[in-house]
Amino acid sequence: MVESTKNATLSFDGKTLELPMYSPTSGPDVIDISKLYAQGDVFTHDPGFTSTSSCESSITFIDGEKGELLHRGYPIDQLAEKSHYLEVCYLLLYGELPTAAQLEDFETRVTRHTMVHEQMHNFFRGFRRDAHPMATMVGVVGAMSAFYHDSTDITDPWQREVAAIRLIAKLPTIAAMAYKYSVGQPFVYPRNDIDYASNFLRMCFAVPAEEYEVNPILSRAMDRIFTLHADHEQNASTSTVRLASSSGANPFACIAAGIACLWGPAHGGANQACLEMLQEIGSVDRIPEFIARAKDKNDPFRLMGFGHRVYKNFDPRAKVMKQSADEVLDLLGVENNPILQVAKELEAQALADPYFAEKKLFPNVDFYSGIILEAMGFPTSMFTPIFAVSRTIGWVSQWKEQISDPKMRIGRPRQLYTGSGARDYVDVENR
Ligand code: SDX
Repeated sequence: MVESTKNATLSFDGKTLELPMYSPTSGPDVIDISKLYAQGDVFTHDPGFTSTSSCESSITFIDGEKGELLHRGYPIDQLAEKSHYLEVCYLLLYGELPTAAQLEDFETRVTRHTMVHEQMHNFFRGFRRDAHPMATMVGVVGAMSAFYHDSTDITDPWQREVAAIRLIAKLPTIAAMAYKYSVGQPFVYPRNDIDYASNFLRMCFAVPAEEYEVNPILSRAMDRIFTLHADHEQNASTSTVRLASSSGANPFACIAAGIACLWGPAHGGANQACLEMLQEIGSVDRIPEFIARAKDKNDPFRLMGFGHRVYKNFDPRAKVMKQSADEVLDLLGVENNPILQVAKELEAQALADPYFAEKKLFPNVDFYSGIILEAMGFPTSMFTPIFAVSRTIGWVSQWKEQISDPKMRIGRPRQLYTGSGARDYVDVENR
């Protein structure tokens, strides 16, 4: 923990409390209120945690005003251009960029764990064919606890390491199996002679009836999508993983909880919701109608892929994603994709509209990712599972950081109670 160099003074009801303050490497100072209830007999109140730091972390930093995202200090645009997903996984997990030997060892360990226990295939058969792949993933990842008992003891650093490698390695396989099951095609086993992103594309799109060649441009775009979604401070799903982990739950159960939270349309489900919104808009001449709805306080409609709790500027990931969208659609000869045209025109009109400027609503990571994934042949139902595959390293790295902190305690928020005061039971005949 950083040392406190100053205090905040809080005065209320005739009391004055001195609360320690800490200064981070970057970002706002924090006021430590952990002793507030004991010393002042009051709670703070911050639904949605808009002003609350939940933990100390050294993994990722976001500057919402600048539109900056750093992983262990390295800017996301440099990582997206010069690195690749498994190297970013190493960086997030261990804190430093690997040497060539370290990277080769890490990639070999991940590659050699990409298969799942053969008996896990049976889990899929219990789902309806039209089950959403996210439902399948929540179930199957949680069920990993039932198979990998030798990596569920979170007090054992070696078991934590094994669980981390297994999750990074097996999530793409499980996501691909969820897709194959939903389209009634046989599962495709991973291969050890191709890279992580190529493996995922092949497990999704190869069929036994013919050879499948991975297009290097699509593989590079897939790897970039994985890299761009890898980690993002204490977002809703990462906070879910941390809270689950604080009770001592095993890592597979914690990651399954993160997948469940990511599914929501306000979070990782936004990429699917965004593409469905663009399809509903359908043509550029209907954009004004939808922008008007997004601005109408009486209309619950929101522009999916716009806005962010932290970014009050462009999401730096959206910039890189937009570049990838152009490359992929150009390669696939669908640069005139009507959905992409709607997306680009919607972005231009929204950014020119004072409402979005005033509320600092800019395109986020989900705005362009769906367009790329759809062009690559994924159904919208696979967009959030792909986000979950990518975010697994973020969840695992944050889980590992928390679980190895000797000061970790179970997370247990309090509340502002506005319900009934104590009252006696009334028999039914007297109600
Ligand atoms: C992700 O936290 C993370 O880091 C998440 C993520 C990650 O990598 O983990 O970045 C991934 O989840 C990206 C966000 C994906 N979600 C969407 O694209 C869904 C659409 N966006 C909104 O639902 C919303 O912007 C949120 C959920 C992203 C942020 O919600 P906040 O911070 O609670 O902001 P808010 O809802 O209070 O909105 C502030 C104002 C409101 O107007 P007022 O009440 O002040 O008048 O902006 C308006 C909102 O009505 N607003 C929008 C809008 N988003 C916010 N108006 C129209 N369209 C939108 N998209």
